[in-house]
Amino acid sequence: MPQRRKIAAGNWKMHGLGASLDEARALCAAFPKPGVDILLCPPATLLSRMRDALDGGAIALGGQDCHASESGAHTGDVSALMLADAGASHVILGHSERRADHGETSAQVAAKAQAARAAGLVAVICVGETLQEHDAGRTLDVVTAQLAHSLPAGANATNTIIAYEPVWAIGTGRTPTPEQISEVHTVLRARLPDPGIRLLYGGSVNAANAASIFAISDVDGALVGGASLKAQDFGAIVRALEDS
Ligand code: 13P
Repeated sequence: MPQRRKIAAGNWKMHGLGASLDEARALCAAFPKPGVDILLCPPATLLSRMRDALDGGAIALGGQDCHASESGAHTGDVSALMLADAGASHVILGHSERRADHGETSAQVAAKAQAARAAGLVAVICVGETLQEHDAGRTLDVVTAQLAHSLPAGANATNTIIAYEPVWAIGTGRTPTPEQISEVHTVLRARLPDPGIRLLYGGSVNAANAASIFAISDVDGALVGGASLKAQDFGAIVRALEDS
């Protein structure tokens, strides 16, 4: 079986104006031929401008959400087809912030993933337990249920990436122990429909802890929030992944 290629994905969330494109350009210049896949997911307003900034480089571009329909009367929403048209090759789906802020269910995430596939996008599907669920010892139940219901039929290594992001580790500076990450990844991997699907960890990954997280077996890379906003910080994470 071919090795799973590692991937460092940056989720800019609701951060970034035109001036922030300099960070993308700097990252692009620092990694002309990266040893891992690199993905940047800026807000939708920056997609086409970032596509131009990254033009010809090795960094892929992704959206942060899409609607399940191709087009229609859905004010404020963006379709997968629109993301692809703006230059995206990937889209993050089911991020805990979307599940919490917009009440997204796993069934809706699966429908969005279908739409992403139809538009030729790779879906980066997120799962993760809240602190309350973690403290109640329900982590494995929660993430396996989310995975089962968020994955559309036909998900495979070509069209799907999974990110395990414990909600309590996002933006908090707290990370699970290597043993906890390893346990969740092992359980998730056993439930993937295709062993080639890449499994990322996300939640407070930074330049200082990246190497120890990438040393965990079954971690194929990271989905990075805050530390992806600066080329220097994200570049250090990319290098740690290259060296892992
Ligand atoms: P932080 O890296 O800022 O904790 O965010 C993680 C995340 O939610 C990425 O999608």
